[in-house]
Amino acid sequence: MPSAIPRPRPITIAHRGACGYLPEHSLAAKAMAHAMGAEFLEQDLVATRDDQLVVLHDIHIDRVTNVTEHFATRHRDDGRFYARDFTLDEIKQLRLTERTDASGRVVFGARYPGGVSGLSVASFAEELAMVRGLNRSTSRIAGVYPEIKKPQWHHDEGVDVSQLALSTLRAFGYEDKPEQVWLQCFDLAENTRLAESLQCPYRQVQLIADDAWGESATCYAELLAPGGLLQLQGVVAAIGPWLEQLYSLNPDGRVIPTSLVADAATAGLCVHPYTVRADALPPGFNSMSGLLDWLLEQGVDGVFCDFTDQCVSHFDARALAPAATAFKR
Ligand code: G3P
Ligand code: CA
Repeated sequence: MPSAIPRPRPITIAHRGACGYLPEHSLAAKAMAHAMGAEFLEQDLVATRDDQLVVLHDIHIDRVTNVTEHFATRHRDDGRFYARDFTLDEIKQLRLTERTDASGRVVFGARYPGGVSGLSVASFAEELAMVRGLNRSTSRIAGVYPEIKKPQWHHDEGVDVSQLALSTLRAFGYEDKPEQVWLQCFDLAENTRLAESLQCPYRQVQLIADDAWGESATCYAELLAPGGLLQLQGVVAAIGPWLEQLYSLNPDGRVIPTSLVADAATAGLCVHPYTVRADALPPGFNSMSGLLDWLLEQGVDGVFCDFTDQCVSHFDARALAPAATAFKR
């Protein structure tokens, strides 16, 4: 294991907050991540019926709240409950739960206990207000890392999440401190629209899924093909690939890097892979520490992590240059 790695410290992106310890996207999980030293706090953004942005990972709310009990009949024909069908006031009546799967089982069994918590869904504005407060009261600045979720679906619903996100960020003064924002999206068409038509003043991130997931109309295989990342130049400043796109496993289980990090460097793009989870390591790795050291060796610039403290303390323990993101005080 190297004792010193001559690279800048990657940023720790608190994925849905410190969601390894508290229900995802609760303000409590964000406050905990801030206290643990995350450089950036992530917000997934979806729209309510009254065009308010709330911080939720999915357009559906039935696997992270008690909506099926509180508004039992308010589902669509597919049986799912959608944030878009509720006003912000109605969504504030709900309580968050630890995430469950389609059969109602808690997804990560060793995390926060299942069942209804005392925590509620945050609006984007509420979360930005809390971040502003914590940045002041702790004298340590954490940036924000919002994601435009399902932009085409929202357009079809008659709401423009990107416009709402930009106007909310503007209201909180982020246009004067754009280095405190990374704006992410899986949809290349929306990233292009943000960069060109909406003149997004923030660094953007092209998330990369597996085409089999049906995440968006973007062809990810095309982006991952030789030279494919070059089309992102002038649109985004970083890619956010799935961890398993960074390597393959040879028959004896050895981890072999793909060319993705080098390809990103050729295209002038930072690399922020998702998602490091101490309790769900990707194939080929048997410890969080081993995974983080491997990512350092690859030269990634940031890491989405569910366990902020473990990521921060791991990077603290390595002799790294300061993070590339240096905030002005
Ligand atoms: O935003 C990147 C990271 O969060 C992975 O995506 O599905 O958790 O929003 P997701
Ligand atoms: Ca996300």
